[in-house]
Parts: sequence; C-alpha cells; structure tokens
Amino acid sequence: MARFETQVGIVGAGPAGLMLSHLLHLHGIHSIVIEIRSRAYCEERVRAGVLEQTSVDMLRDCGVAERLDREGLRHEGIDIGVNGIPHRIPFVELTGKCVTVYGQQEVVKDLIARRIADGGDLRFECGDVSLHEIDGARPCIRVANDGSVDEIRCDYIAGCDGFHGISRATFPPDVLRVFERDYPFAWLGILAEAAPSREELLYMHHERGFALYSMRSPRITRLYLQCRPDEDIQEWSDDRIWSELQMRLSCSNGWRPTEGRILQKGVTGMRSFVVEPLQYGRLFLAGDAAHIVPPTGAKGMNLALADVHHLAEALRALYRHNDHSKLNDYSTTCLRRIWMAQRFSWWMTSLLHRFEDALAFDHKRQLAELEYVTSSRAAATCLAENYVGLPLHC
Ligand code: FAD
Ligand code: PHB
Repeated sequence: MARFETQVGIVGAGPAGLMLSHLLHLHGIHSIVIEIRSRAYCEERVRAGVLEQTSVDMLRDCGVAERLDREGLRHEGIDIGVNGIPHRIPFVELTGKCVTVYGQQEVVKDLIARRIADGGDLRFECGDVSLHEIDGARPCIRVANDGSVDEIRCDYIAGCDGFHGISRATFPPDVLRVFERDYPFAWLGILAEAAPSREELLYMHHERGFALYSMRSPRITRLYLQCRPDEDIQEWSDDRIWSELQMRLSCSNGWRPTEGRILQKGVTGMRSFVVEPLQYGRLFLAGDAAHIVPPTGAKGMNLALADVHHLAEALRALYRHNDHSKLNDYSTTCLRRIWMAQRFSWWMTSLLHRFEDALAFDHKRQLAELEYVTSSRAAATCLAENYVGLPLHC
C-alpha cells in the first residue's frame, strides 16, 4: 500500500474540486485531487455555459480569467419569449451587472492547466475511491487500482464528486436530510456548428413546450427543447430536432435560429435536490454532491464555485488563525445561498415550461406571470438580480 499525506483531500475534478484546490494553493494549503475520469473526459464534458458576474469576479480575483476575458461572451441581458414574441430583460440597466457565456469545460481546462503549472497534485483515472474515518482526527481516502491501494491521509476531505459520487453516500444514513422535487419533463440539448444569429439568450415559453437558444462561441450554438423525461434520443433525427426548434423559437419579428451540423445531442433530466447539513466530521460536501438545480436558471456551476469559495475561506481562517468558526458555519453559510438559487431555479422552471397536467387556471396564471415579468420593471429586476447572481454573502 502506498501512503500519502495532505492537508485537504479533494474528491472530484469538476469545477468545485479544481477551484477549491486552486484557492487552497493560493492560501498556502496543500491538497490532492482524486478523479475517476481521464483528464480528456473532464475537459470535454459539455455542460453549463453561463457564468454569473459573481463567478467571473471570483475567477478574475484568483488569476484564472485570462482566456475567459479574451474569449468569454459578455451578455448584458436575455430575452424571455412568449409564443413567439421576445421581451428583453436588460440586466445592466436593471442591476449594473451582466453574465458571461463561457463553457464549463473551458473553466475546467483553465483550472487544470493552472493547477498543473503550479505543481498541483491532480490524480486522474483513479479506480475504486472510498472514504474512511471521516469522524476521526485523520480521515483518509483510499484508491484501489489494479490490485494495489493508495491511502491518502488528510486533515479534511472535500466531497466535490458530483451528484453520483461517493462522498454524500459516506455520511451515516441518519445525518442527512434530503429535500427534493422531480419535474415531469427533461431537456433535449444539442450543440450545433452554426454561428449564433442573435447576440443574447432566448428563453421561450411555447404551447409546444419550452425551448432555449444559447451559444458557446461565435461559431457554436447550444439549443434545448423541453421533452419527456423518458424521451428516446434515437427517435430524434437531426431534421426533426431542427424543425421542432424552428417551430418553438421562431419569432414574430422574423428572427429564426440558424441551423448547422449537430455535433452532440443528449437528454438531461430535471430535478431540484438539496441535502442538509453539508458537513459530517471532517468531510464537507460542495457543488452537485450536495445540491442539484434544474438548469433553467443557469445556476449549477455558479453554485458549485460559491460553495468552494466559502470552504476555502473557512480553511484559510483555520490554518492561518486557528479560527474554527467559519468551518463550523460552512453548512449554514452555503445553504442560505443554495436555497435562494433553488427558489430562483424552481421559479424560472415553473414560469417557462409547459405542464401537461396543469389546470386551465394554472395555465392562465402562468401567462399572467409571464406578462408581469416582461412588462413590470420591478418584476424584471427581480429576475435580473437573481440571474446575474446574488452576492456571495446573502
Ligand atoms: P461535477 O462537474 O459533476 O464534477 C464532479 C467530478 O467528480 C466529476 O469530474 C466526476 O467524474 C468526479 N467523480 C464522480 N465520482 C467520483 C468518485 N467516486 N471519485 C472521484 N471522482 C469522482 N448547469 C447549468 O447551469 N446549465 C446547464 O446547461 C447544465 N447542463 C448540465 C448537463 C448535464 C448532463 C449535467 C450532469 C449537469 C449540467 N449542469 C448544468 C449542472 C452543472 O454542470 C453542475 O452544476 C456542475 O458541473 C457542478 O460542478 P461540480 O464540480 O460540483 O460537479
Ligand atoms: C447553456 O448554454 O448550456 C445554458 C444556458 C442557460 C441555461 C442553461 C443552459 O439556463
């Protein structure tokens, strides 16, 4: 058995784990990152695309925004469409802030490159990962690989291994309380080789179901269609996808999505999920390991980054000043903002999707709410303030 020592063992090299490792390094705290997938897989996995102003500021403050500042697309608003009629929500005018479109995999690439340049210990393609003695003074991570086992002794462990990871499952069963909600629909998402034909995102409420027009770069668009949770992607030819997108997204002012070669397609389920608390003993959960939001509010990656900001600050106070208070408060501090993002993501999802079994009353109420959001400055400000990101301490 090979033995290693570190101050913080980090499980998972997604945005949460990598950012935590980088922030800890800046604070002079050693970490080892354990990841089951390959570096290439982590760098190519297409997921979220919208960075809140808060996340952009964080990436800039910690010196990993050079490419983001060059290649990120600054968006000063979004359009909310109702059956073909778009209404702009001007973020900068309403809040003084904006968002930046920059793929999650680009954030991951930048963080991996920076950790490697700084001599960071990132271990990809790890075999069976398990956590032990999490309520003891020196918890450990064991990694089994081809008959041999590595043991990494840590002061603390950060579970940043996403929704399907092992960290949350390591908590004793009676400690965690689960709050969740499933939605009766999913998103069929595509990545297309087509230059964006509009400058900002369009979220469309449509009688045939919700659709979203987004983008990744001046050559690549990202589009989504509301579909059934059990939708079989094989039943969706490229032609069928484009024709449905044209029906749902085309606007009365003549705008239509530009088409192009479909590079990737897939179905993503929608759920709201939170566990409380985020800590047991010396194990701390961050990001998707602790919570999932439906993607309508574009909050997933942003929340993961906010969690690890708080965790890094708490560990810094502990190592530098022997101050345990922030670490003790980590769960409470994060959960306050997590629930704000849960509320907003649930609200955006309820506002924009078609609910098959909705009462006629609820459908009319939904249309009234859309009209309110798109016509009242106060209501639009409420959407904008949440979309661009609430302050880290809210
Ligand atoms: P992850 O990015 O999931 O990273 C966790 C890492 O841990 C992974 O690299 C995983 O391989 C690794 N891991 C798992 N198990 C283990 C283990 N046992 N040992 C070691 N490592 C392990 N959000 C949006 O805002 N907009 C979107 O459009 C959007 N689309 C999404 C599409 C999909 C298919 C998914 C799954 C999520 C999407 N999200 C989206 C959510 C967003 O991508 C996540 O919120 C974000 O990735 C969270 O980052 P994380 O670091 O917490 O977790
Ligand atoms: C994306 O570009 O993938 C995206 C944008 C906004 C969302 C969700 C996903 O709300």
